[in-house]
Amino acid sequence: MEQRLQKLIATAGIASRRHAEELITAGRVSVNGKVVTELGTKADPAKDHIKVNGKLINPQLRTLEKVYVLLNKPKGYLSSVSDPEGRPLVTELLPTSLGRVHPVGRLDFNTEGLLLLTNDGEFTNFVTAARNQVDKVYEVKVKGVPPEAALQRLRRGVTLDDGTRTAPAKIELLHDTSMNAWLEVLLHQGRNQQVRRMFDLIGHSVVKLRRVRIAFLTDEHLKPGHWRLLTAVEVKRLMKPRAKKKASLTKAQGAHGAHGARGAHGHGR
Ligand code: URA
Repeated sequence: MEQRLQKLIATAGIASRRHAEELITAGRVSVNGKVVTELGTKADPAKDHIKVNGKLINPQLRTLEKVYVLLNKPKGYLSSVSDPEGRPLVTELLPTSLGRVHPVGRLDFNTEGLLLLTNDGEFTNFVTAARNQVDKVYEVKVKGVPPEAALQRLRRGVTLDDGTRTAPAKIELLHDTSMNAWLEVLLHQGRNQQVRRMFDLIGHSVVKLRRVRIAFLTDEHLKPGHWRLLTAVEVKRLMKPRAKKKASLTKAQGAHGAHGARGAHGHGR
């Protein structure tokens, strides 16, 4: 997006807007190699090379443009940025003004719940890596009522159909009827269809799956299809290395309410 040069220079943290104007009129600013001295001149940091005192300011602008979105994914959307089959994409639930973002990990087409999206690859790697112990909590409805011994197997870790072993998980039975059970499952891993495959293995297939928490993010009031931007404080907190601790299924300590840390960025569809 094109913006006035003095605004871009100030956003990059190089000078105040007023000082930036002085730098421009003094001939110390160039766009694509050409010195610019006119104050109304605009440039697009995504396309133009902007230099102040001979130094490119685009990298500073890029870091400031990182975007972190929390979406309540509805069923029937693919966690991907493209699909040869033309199915609806989670990215279509966001306005194009946010720029290109990708999902942080994956929720299945028919899984609902919290999904992060960002343009920050480092953030994605951190949140998805099992070693960083970022809690992902799912509410799971299964066929029948799994016996305690079967749940115990899943808690300890099981070998999936592709030969990989799951890490220990926290699993709590929330409620059951003669037909179904509702459970809460806490994982740090995100293997493809992990929850569904775990419950298939014990003969109690998943009927409904919803992610209800990522680390301290719960956002119960974010309706399906709605989203919000994370605050800088939330991003920092998500990427903080976790001290080895006993994972707890109950809400994360100090968890924010749905709107508690929203800052200035409340959004819906
Ligand atoms: N596990 C699954 O099986 N599916 C999801 O979408 C997320 C975790």
